[in-house]
Amino acid sequence: MIKGFLFDLDGVIVETAIFHYQAWRKMANDLGFDISEEFNETLKGVSRMDSLNLILAHGNVVLLEEEKIELATKKNEHYLTLVSKMTADDILPGVREFFAQIKQTDIKIALGSVSKNAKMILEGVGLINDFDAIIDGTKISKGKPDPEVFLKGAAELGLSPEECLVFEDAVAGVEAGKNAGMKVVGIGHAEVLTKADIVLKGFENIDLRQLLSKIQ
Ligand code: G6P
Ligand code: MG
Repeated sequence: MIKGFLFDLDGVIVETAIFHYQAWRKMANDLGFDISEEFNETLKGVSRMDSLNLILAHGNVVLLEEEKIELATKKNEHYLTLVSKMTADDILPGVREFFAQIKQTDIKIALGSVSKNAKMILEGVGLINDFDAIIDGTKISKGKPDPEVFLKGAAELGLSPEECLVFEDAVAGVEAGKNAGMKVVGIGHAEVLTKADIVLKGFENIDLRQLLSKIQ
């Protein structure tokens, strides 16, 4: 029986991928190459340093470790100026209504994000108090598709993996949920999120009971 929901943040609760893309693109452009929106898809759910390494490899740029840290820091500063303007209006459609349905049940809610900025973003959009547990990039050592983030989320809720349901928009995130031994609801396109147990376009008009009856 499902007793806990584990939500990814970026692309599930709020749409920050565009801001990550803008900040990474500026960095790449400054280094003399470009990254496409299609390439940006491959960065979803991937940690900051892993994303940086993928982008540098894409542009055939080789750097020292300290230069990489400097670039990642600068990218994050740019990203923070972009996300600091986020408000409750930036919560993805249907999320608040879905949370309201969850609150009428005994199901617990946790965050499972590799972002180190997750708490700041949840505070900014006014959702931080809706979570019973928050596992973010500051609490994990391995990024998705490693299951660490979701296993820690389950542990903090006091639940076993089989009692948890993951909501994820990234291929790496769906894999992380499956690697944790959990059922996964993909948010996005079924052609992309092939490993998810079920795929929804988003949370608009989603009935919690109907969803649970399909998944259990
Ligand atoms: C999420 C996003 C990734 C991002 C990662 C780290 O998983 O989907 O695009 O790289 O978080 O985010 P951070 O805010 O710590 O740089
Ligand atoms: Mg995501």
